[in-house]
Amino acid sequence: MASMITGREGIADAFEVVLDGRECQRGLCRDLETLADRLGVTVDEGLAERCLAYLHSDLAVHQRDEEAVYRLLGEFDTGDGVAQLIRLATNEHIRHREYACELSEWLEAALHGRAKCNPDALGYLLRCMFDNLSQHLAWEEVTLFGTARQTRELLSGRDLAGQLARNRRAHPARLRLIYSVPSH
Ligand SMILES: [Fe+2]
Repeated sequence: MASMITGREGIADAFEVVLDGRECQRGLCRDLETLADRLGVTVDEGLAERCLAYLHSDLAVHQRDEEAVYRLLGEFDTGDGVAQLIRLATNEHIRHREYACELSEWLEAALHGRAKCNPDALGYLLRCMFDNLSQHLAWEEVTLFGTARQTRELLSGRDLAGQLARNRRAHPARLRLIYSVPSH
């Protein structure tokens, strides 16, 4: 039986759920930049809480969703080029999650008064995170996700939804879908 997964605002197509997760990551980048811009002797509490919620749970799930797409791409294209791109992307995901842990500790300490907020140090960490993540998303878009979008009909015939459901079951925290696509 095919797995069903429903994303934000009732998105039912598995590939669209993955794309929506990428949009959520872009939302995080915007929030981190705004947070850095507003830093003073205090942090914007609401914005910091929203970033922390995403860094703690959704970021890992959304990256694993991307990796589910990569595994399917790897089944279609077994060339060294694709395999290398997948390795690079996956290694960057690991680094981002490690960096997210460090940034979370700093943000929580500043937010709950366990340490005096050092705007320069925290601002540097925030800017590193959103710069790295933004560049990573842009790079994926012209490499692996460029190919994935072109072959999405092939991907849709596979059990991508099943893997997305497993990603959510494997994660201890319930997925919070808190970012919305900006309206232009
Ligand atoms: Fe990624």
